[in-house]
Amino acid sequence: MPKLKIAVLFGGRSGEHEVSRNSGAAISNALSVSCEVFPIGVAKDGQWYGPIPLAEITAFEPQNYPEKKVTILPFPHSRGIIYSLPNLAKIEEVDAFFPAMHGTFGEDGTLQGFLELSQVAYVGSGVLASSAGMDKIIMKRIFADAGLPQVPYLSFLRKELDSGPPDKIIKLIKKELGFPCFIKPANMGSSVGISKAIDEEQLRQGLSKAAEYDRKIIVEKGINAREIEISVLGNENPQVSLPGEIIPCNEFYDYKAKYVDDRSSLRIPADLTSNQIKKIQEYGTIAYEAIDAAGLARIDFFIDKDTNEILINEINTLPGFTAISMYAKLWQHSGLYMEELTKKLVDYALERNAESRRNKTVYTD
Ligand SMILES: Nc1ncnc2c1ncn2[C@@H]1O[C@H](COP(=O)(O)OP(=O)(O)O)[C@@H](O)[C@H]1O
Ligand SMILES: [Mg+2]
Repeated sequence: MPKLKIAVLFGGRSGEHEVSRNSGAAISNALSVSCEVFPIGVAKDGQWYGPIPLAEITAFEPQNYPEKKVTILPFPHSRGIIYSLPNLAKIEEVDAFFPAMHGTFGEDGTLQGFLELSQVAYVGSGVLASSAGMDKIIMKRIFADAGLPQVPYLSFLRKELDSGPPDKIIKLIKKELGFPCFIKPANMGSSVGISKAIDEEQLRQGLSKAAEYDRKIIVEKGINAREIEISVLGNENPQVSLPGEIIPCNEFYDYKAKYVDDRSSLRIPADLTSNQIKKIQEYGTIAYEAIDAAGLARIDFFIDKDTNEILINEINTLPGFTAISMYAKLWQHSGLYMEELTKKLVDYALERNAESRRNKTVYTD
């Protein structure tokens, strides 16, 4: 049987562009064992370039590939066909796409919508789960509806903060959530725009900072938390890994602790009782299904050190994906390595694409 051809998309128009190049390189290298890989670098301005040689993915700079602009077309008949720009010559036909992209325009449903239009198979969640998972307010509503325990929170629109000092809002937050609290833009990732406030002054600053990043802002009660994560794999009846734990080197797991300072560590598996593990895995499955995720997700929890309560924090539908990322390491722990893991994800993408093509798109009696 000929090898499957897979286009791996990496980079992108998001604060996580650099992180995504590392994921793209790791995924492309692992997949190249079983598939033919066509790496596509998405520049910070959104333009696609490919194929990028495997060894050049992490250092991808679009100006090095002026002749390699490529695209796909948003029509069903063009499924999987990659064209070169500007002359739209066909250059490759692939079996599936693997978005190795995090954050805006990669993980948030926009890219998934584009891939849907061209009817190509792609790894990971569809439009709905991707966008719902990216918006912390919508995500929390879905999780609440599924009966999952979460930290108390309030949400606001930027325009409520525009009209003078938000005294009413500050009062409400102090009354409902107290200090410390966490202030976050609703649609970001990698801790960008997030701050912790321990008094009113910091709360005001945190609200202004979050408002720079999004028109929707969420404020959560801050808890003294252990940070526990699990990996999920599959479409219907997904597999759930054992939990791992993040030991952040900073006061909380902020952008620096994630990507700049390498003193944060992972503990795999996390030191938990079998009851805690069972609960976390059960909540993880409920969350995955509630949001209609597919392919993969990493689901993050807090365990309140003061009350021992398990709370769901968030779902990441395209988590950081290198051999040293939590997502892959949790699977490695149970003997599933990057090569097989990435191949399984491609198989799930093909399965889901075949399933979606069973749907009628025109009305017939
Ligand atoms: N309510 C909270 N209580 C305690 N710590 C929090 C809370 N919310 C966020 N944090 C800390 O901030 C980090 C980033 O927040 P998170 O909501 O996971 O955003 P992101 O999507 O950017 O990863 C968490 O990993 C944790 O360290
Ligand atoms: Mg997080």
